[in-house]
Order: sequence, then structure tokens, then C-alpha cells
Amino acid sequence: MLSYHNKVVWITGASSGIGASLAKGFASLGATCVLSSRNEKQLDWVRNQLAHPERHLVLPLDLTASDTFPDAVGFVLNAFGRIDVLVNNGGVSQRSLAAETSLAVDHQLMEVNFFGPVALTKAVLPYLRKSEGQIIVISSIAGKFGFFLRSTYAAAKHALHGFFESLALEEEGKVRVTIACPGKINTPISMSALNENGEKHNAMDDNQSTGMDVDVCAHKIIRAARKNRREVLIGKKEIIPVYLKRYFPYMFWRIIRNQKAV
Ligand SMILES: NC(=O)c1ccc[n+]([C@@H]2O[C@H](COP(=O)([O-])OP(=O)(O)OC[C@H]3O[C@@H](n4cnc5c(N)ncnc54)[C@H](OP(=O)(O)O)[C@@H]3O)[C@@H](O)[C@H]2O)c1
Repeated sequence: MLSYHNKVVWITGASSGIGASLAKGFASLGATCVLSSRNEKQLDWVRNQLAHPERHLVLPLDLTASDTFPDAVGFVLNAFGRIDVLVNNGGVSQRSLAAETSLAVDHQLMEVNFFGPVALTKAVLPYLRKSEGQIIVISSIAGKFGFFLRSTYAAAKHALHGFFESLALEEEGKVRVTIACPGKINTPISMSALNENGEKHNAMDDNQSTGMDVDVCAHKIIRAARKNRREVLIGKKEIIPVYLKRYFPYMFWRIIRNQKAV
């Protein structure tokens, strides 16, 4: 099992949900966390919930502003001299039909969920190589199969698998890569999900409120990363279709069309 004691762990999307819970988990293992997202006030709140808040750093970052990433990397290196783990967690979901979603919204979803993590990874990679570090990518079961109202979100998550599986091969022996695919997790992700016009969905969907506890999810992500697993599926019965699609595709298509989209 890998140890995160005294490791510098940079988490995007740390102001809420899975990212905030991952910060708690890594901090409890003795890591120093760099907490990034757009909402600085919320990041401060998360930091103050961690054991030894003074050990951790709040670093506001917008995943759509890749021109700011080199400075952000410099800031972390100035503060701690190294980066051991990058957790590409920040993301935004979608609640709109493909046919009705504007191309501008498609671009926004790809920017936050795919190009942002890719650009940040490229900026951090030289330092992860130096520390023989690790990248943890928070994909989704929507990275394994398409689903109602999630066309571009699912496309971005599928794209993460293509990119990070390739990177894992290229960096073998230098940088570890773990891809986590959560199912339905109890976080406010549906609140900020974008509709066809790029407005917030602003509703807590049943799929979220009845989902897996976020701390249980974060614990499973960290356990998979500590074991250097290449991929992990996390959730309740909603992860079964991933196996159906692989082994019984006919059954998959019959079952998936009856699942609730919200
Ligand atoms: N909850 C689920 O059921 C579920 C299932 C599968 C996968 N996931 C994935 O898990 C990850 C975390 O989601 P969550 O469930 O924890 O949702 P969440 O509570 O809504 O958290 C999303 C995080 O992403 C950040 N974020 C959004 N847009 C950003 C941007 N442009 N730049 C930087 N940060 C941004 C948000 O912070 P700011 O608003 O402060 O920027 C927030 O910290 C996402 O990648 C999501 O796709 C979630």
C-alpha cells in the first residue's frame, strides 16, 4: 500500500462533495493538501475542517483558465517544493437533451471535465515524474456508458479514459495513474449541472440524495489509489450495467433505457 504521509496532494474541485471529502481523507493520512476550485471562501471553510489547517494550502483555480496553470504550479512548488499526487476531481455535470444543448454548452462541459484536467496534468507532470508520483482521475460510470441527459458529460468522461490510459502506458514506472468511476454519490453535483442553455439545473436529484455516502466514496477512492489500482468502480447497484455492457450487451440495452435520468 502506498503511503501519503508528508506527501503533497493537489485536489481540484476541493470546495465541495467528493473533493472536500478526499481532502479530509488524505489529511487524515498525514498528507499536505492543496485545495483548488473557484470558490475561495468555500475552500477556506474546507481547509478549516481538516486536521492541522495550517499545513494545507488554498489555491483558487478555474479549470477553464489553463493559461493560469503554470503560475499555479509555481505557487505550489514555492510553498512545498514538490508535488506528489494530482487529483483531477473538479467537474460539472449536465441535465439536458443532446439535441437541445447548445454547442457553447458542449464546449463548456468539455473544457471543465476534459481539457482542464488534461492541461493541469501536463503542467504538473514534470514534477510528478521527479517525485515518482501519482495521478488520480475522477471519471464516472458515465465514462463507461452513455446515459440520458448526459451526452457531453459522458463524452468528456469517456475521453478521460482514452487520455489517461494512454498516459499511464507512456509514464509506466515514472507516474502511477488510478481512474475512479463513481456511480451515484450523495453530493450537490446535480445542483450545478448545466441545462441546454448553460444555466444551473438547481435541483437535488433523487439519484444524488439516495446515492452512496460521500465519505464512503472518498475512502474507496483513496484505498484504490493506495493499492495502485488502474481503475475502480464505486457505487451501489448502478455500477452493475458496466459489467452488463461488457459481458451481456443485449441485456444492458434493455435495462439501461428504463433507468431514471434524475
Ligand atoms: N456525485 C456523483 O454522483 C458523481 C458521480 C460520478 C462522478 N462524479 C465526479 O466527481 C467529481 C466531483 O463531483 P462532486 O459529486 O463532488 O460534485 P460537487 O460537489 O458539485 O463538486 C464539484 C467540484 O468541482 C468544482 N468545479 C466546478 N467547475 C469548476 C471549474 N470551472 N474550475 C474549477 N473547479 C470547478 C466545484 O468547485 P467551485 O464551484 O468552487 O469551482 C466543486 O468543488 C466530478 O468530476 C464529477 O463528475 C460525481
